[in-house]
Amino acid sequence: MTDTSSEAAALGRSQSASDPATGVGVEHDRIAVLDFGGQYVHLIATKIRRLRVRTEIVDPLAPIDELRRYNGIILSGSPALSTLGEGSDYTHEIYDLPVPILGLCYGHQEIARHYGGTIEHTRREYGPARLRIVAEHPIFAGLDRDQIVWMSHGDSVTKLPAGFVELGYSMHRVEEDDPEGRHSHRNAAIVSDELLRYGFQFHPEVDGTEHGDVMLESFVTRICGCRQTWTIPHYVEEQVAHIRRRSGDGKVFLLASGGVDSTVCARLLVEALGQERVHLLHIDNGLMRKGESRAVIERFRSWGLTENLHFVDASETFLKALADLVEPEEKRVAIGNAFIEVCHAEMERLGVSRALLAQGTIYPDTIETGGTRRADVIKTHHNRVPLVAAMVRAGKVLEPLQDLYKTEVRELGALLGLDADLLGRHPFPGPGLGVRLLCSRAEPTGESLSELERITREAQAQAAPYGLQAMAMPIRSVGVKADLRAYEWPVMLRGEASWDGVLEAASHIYRGVDGVNRCCYDLGMGNGAAPAAPPRLEVFAAGVTRERLDLLREADHFVMEGIRRYGLMETIWQCPTVALPVRVNGRVGELIVLRPVLSSRAMTARPAHLPVQLVAELREQILALPGVSGLCIDVTTKPPGTIEWE
Ligand code: XMP
Repeated sequence: MTDTSSEAAALGRSQSASDPATGVGVEHDRIAVLDFGGQYVHLIATKIRRLRVRTEIVDPLAPIDELRRYNGIILSGSPALSTLGEGSDYTHEIYDLPVPILGLCYGHQEIARHYGGTIEHTRREYGPARLRIVAEHPIFAGLDRDQIVWMSHGDSVTKLPAGFVELGYSMHRVEEDDPEGRHSHRNAAIVSDELLRYGFQFHPEVDGTEHGDVMLESFVTRICGCRQTWTIPHYVEEQVAHIRRRSGDGKVFLLASGGVDSTVCARLLVEALGQERVHLLHIDNGLMRKGESRAVIERFRSWGLTENLHFVDASETFLKALADLVEPEEKRVAIGNAFIEVCHAEMERLGVSRALLAQGTIYPDTIETGGTRRADVIKTHHNRVPLVAAMVRAGKVLEPLQDLYKTEVRELGALLGLDADLLGRHPFPGPGLGVRLLCSRAEPTGESLSELERITREAQAQAAPYGLQAMAMPIRSVGVKADLRAYEWPVMLRGEASWDGVLEAASHIYRGVDGVNRCCYDLGMGNGAAPAAPPRLEVFAAGVTRERLDLLREADHFVMEGIRRYGLMETIWQCPTVALPVRVNGRVGELIVLRPVLSSRAMTARPAHLPVQLVAELREQILALPGVSGLCIDVTTKPPGTIEWE
């Protein structure tokens, strides 16, 4: 990422003096991934980091001087179309750099275009294809002549630029040989060794490309000459040195929610500075899970932390800040600001107001908040609200995990001796239940009503072949479509169908019906309504209140207990429980949504199937809570639905 913060600049400078024997402190070789907005950008970075080469996601408009420090550049895929000249406003001086550049999909077409090749809209290739390698090249070292690769494109390079040669063509019928090339796309892999330019029409970063890892490794090591020095133990050593340098003789004040990131961050700070110089503040913002604050404090105490461990019950401050707010972005910013306000007050009270503020921010937090120009602000993470961003610019914030993905944070935590139970905890967002308690001003009127009617009509047509009823739900949620933020309506499905049938119907609806970004499946409306009659769903005015939060806490507690009881903590990445102010068939109360997902990085996700018996137990427990009007399960992939509803 091109990060202009003083923090990142300091990080960059920190890697100089070296111990060549261990690699600690060596100046790491680096790869830049130019982010053209493709959905696999993070995957490219993650895969190369696994090869122990430092990789950063960079804005395509970054000044050329910032791009000089990389040993190689990868141009990502993009939703833009090269044939239309879309997305062509990037730093073209990269082509003057004497470093290898590898283009993937859109990036491949851009390289060809830049050097005078022809790109045309051709037959689409989507999914697995067979790559026939037609020339020997180090980038395919050790690989057989035929390779299974993953394609997703409509444009192709139809004429090579001068100086380039074809390394391979693709056959979209994987199973049959195609000697005449009838089903093939030419130029699926191209190269100019003289110019150091390489292009793959396919995606080596996705698992569907069988030996994509080998190809990426050959590119970064054989072609870019990167040394594989970037490991978690080195990262720890570097960060310890960095934390010591940044904090001087001063103290560091960490906001510790008790989640994986902030706990690993706490451990790293203590490792670097010792307990005396690290103040931990746990804030009960009133948006925590049931019994969570007590458990967090106990855990830190068990490390032997006492004097510098602080706790404040600030639930009133947060509730006040949230009163009258219903818009997701406004709620997030209010929560982020309240954190800083409470934190400053505590620092003042404790006489440590000059301490650096530390946060457990990780890499996707900054990227998702719009860390690169191409990445739309899907949601403002609580640790990136404008107030914090200004403090970061002023050099007052320390974020030692800001270069890491979740899996790397877990690895680092294990290295620091944290136990597997803690490291295996599900991610929990900083704004906590605040983003799982949806709010509304009033019932939709006029335009929204006719939109809801249209959505119900169109969704019904898609659902009927599956024997399901469909109706628009009257409250919007946040999602992400074509890499852009989407604030749209969910659809409720109801009726007897297999899990696969429900998922299929849902995907037809959120792909095919405009204005829909999510589907839920009814798990019981709790009032004995005849299944034949579509339920009446009515939104009512509701804000963030302690009563609503307490109800959500109870429902969430049942869900998390159930997931633990059924041994699903590891399989399920995360399972938010969400409360919607929606009456069902006139029954006043919250419509509760379960959102179990399978994921590995939270950048994409699939709905998780819960065991039938667990669903039956949850139905009984949750519907018996006073103030609940119904229960359903979110069956949406990400994209288009995000994991959280706000
Ligand atoms: P979405 O909802 O965007 O979430 O699919 C992706 C991952 O990020 C978590 N999340 C947050 N974490 N502060 C955080 O620390 C936030 O403001 C925030 N919003 C979402 C979410 O729980 C999921 O793991």
